[in-house]
Amino acid sequence: METRQTLIVLDFGGQYNQLIARRVREHNVYCELLPYTTPTAKLLEKKPIGIIFTGGPSNTYDESAPKVEKELIKSGVPILGICYGCQLIADLEGGVVGQGAREYGRQKLNVSSSLLFDGVKKESLCWMSHTNYVEKLPDGFVVTATTPTCPVAAMENTARGLYGVQFHPEVMHTEEGEKILRNFLYNVCGAKGDWTMGNFASRTISALKEKIGDKKVLCALSGGVDSAVAATLVHKACPNLICVYVDHGLMRKNETEEIVRVFRDEQGMNLIAVDAGERFLKKLKGVTEPEKKRKIIGAEFIKVFEEEAKKIGAVDYLVQGTIYPDVIESGLGAGAKIKSHHNVGGLPDVVDFKEIVEPLRDLFKDEVRACGFEIGLPSSIVMRQPFPGPGLGIRIIGEVTAEKVGILQEADWIFREEIAKAGLDKEIWQYFAVLTNVQTVGVMGDERTYDRVCGIRAVTSVDGMTADWARIPYDVLEIISSRIVNEVKGINRVAYDITSKPPATIEWE
Ligand code: XMP
Repeated sequence: METRQTLIVLDFGGQYNQLIARRVREHNVYCELLPYTTPTAKLLEKKPIGIIFTGGPSNTYDESAPKVEKELIKSGVPILGICYGCQLIADLEGGVVGQGAREYGRQKLNVSSSLLFDGVKKESLCWMSHTNYVEKLPDGFVVTATTPTCPVAAMENTARGLYGVQFHPEVMHTEEGEKILRNFLYNVCGAKGDWTMGNFASRTISALKEKIGDKKVLCALSGGVDSAVAATLVHKACPNLICVYVDHGLMRKNETEEIVRVFRDEQGMNLIAVDAGERFLKKLKGVTEPEKKRKIIGAEFIKVFEEEAKKIGAVDYLVQGTIYPDVIESGLGAGAKIKSHHNVGGLPDVVDFKEIVEPLRDLFKDEVRACGFEIGLPSSIVMRQPFPGPGLGIRIIGEVTAEKVGILQEADWIFREEIAKAGLDKEIWQYFAVLTNVQTVGVMGDERTYDRVCGIRAVTSVDGMTADWARIPYDVLEIISSRIVNEVKGINRVAYDITSKPPATIEWE
């Protein structure tokens, strides 16, 4: 098998670093985001076609400034330094880095002829975010771009394959950024564009076939996209995969049926669906505190799974849906946060297995989705909205009862149906209904009602870390409100949440 080309994105702590890696992948080039502390020999062992030095908050003249060994720059591997990365190249090559330029936001960029600017407009807008800048070029370098306030917006030494840009080509506000990155990858590094999800799926399936063969594999399917894609890849490679899906009774309307239909009926997987709703409700009886509910649901989930795993007996492999951001976050040590999703977190402790397989550990979320489509999963699974592990358990405020779950499922179903009908399902990142424990007076027909308030939440976001409330048109809101109140017994009022995150969170809990 032909080996895949690799580019390295060397992380100096900038806020856009994962974005740079994603942008490189979007150009069909596989890349790894590695900390700047990675020894040069280890980096070169990977035989990278190129290296990108990211931005970062440091000043090259600080004693503690993150640096690389000079051998890396001298290795002959093409390097593109972005922002701090550009200043670092200048510094290591004997140039001078000036202080206090303070250039933030959009700037007019003027470029001259360069492999990097092939097909790029002579004048365009770029995004700057820096205080330091390259004041004096190192020997052998030339300036290839300027802004009105930055004399070295780009520099290069083509003979050595060293390039630097002070602006950020990875952000969308840099008009020609996509072309510039592509030029570096294809014109400078000689990329072939061999990173596609079709290639990834077929390579991964072959590798899994070879590794696992007909050994016994276990996978916990949660209904989420990561475990779904991981399980399906393994299923396509191995005859002895057993999937366990624990239905805690707190899923959205029709969700369990859809999971069983797709994985058991369409994909032909050996799927054990455990109907554990009653068990969970019993445990949740009388509990109102959200963190307590989370803990109970998480612990019960592990218990149910453990019982199933015991029935299955010892397995050779346990499949986990770990994805690349989890690997980066745990690998870089900053916060050392590993996926804490309740229904995968504790499983390795309760399953008798020899090894973990993580078929998605190289993929970003958007790549997981593309891979899902590639291997034939439907959009209902691949484009599924984020959904908390404890499910509707945390979208019912106060005590969780079977009746409330039923009410919320109906309201949520109507909300989702109307959002899709209005064609808003692609632009709104996440939308769902919440059942509050507030009751208010209403009047229906000639009768007074004293029913619950249903909250509806719809947000736009990129990663769930920050979010804004979605501007749903009034007439769509009107239909949603009217349908929920008319069709769902137990709700007589609908409130739309117009709070961003921060200060609120996305879920209500
Ligand atoms: P918050 O409410 O903290 O949520 O703004 C941010 C995003 O995370 C989702 N969420 C979870 N996802 N397991 C998950 O996999 C969980 O336990 C969990 N809790 C919240 C939430 O839906 C939103 O997208």
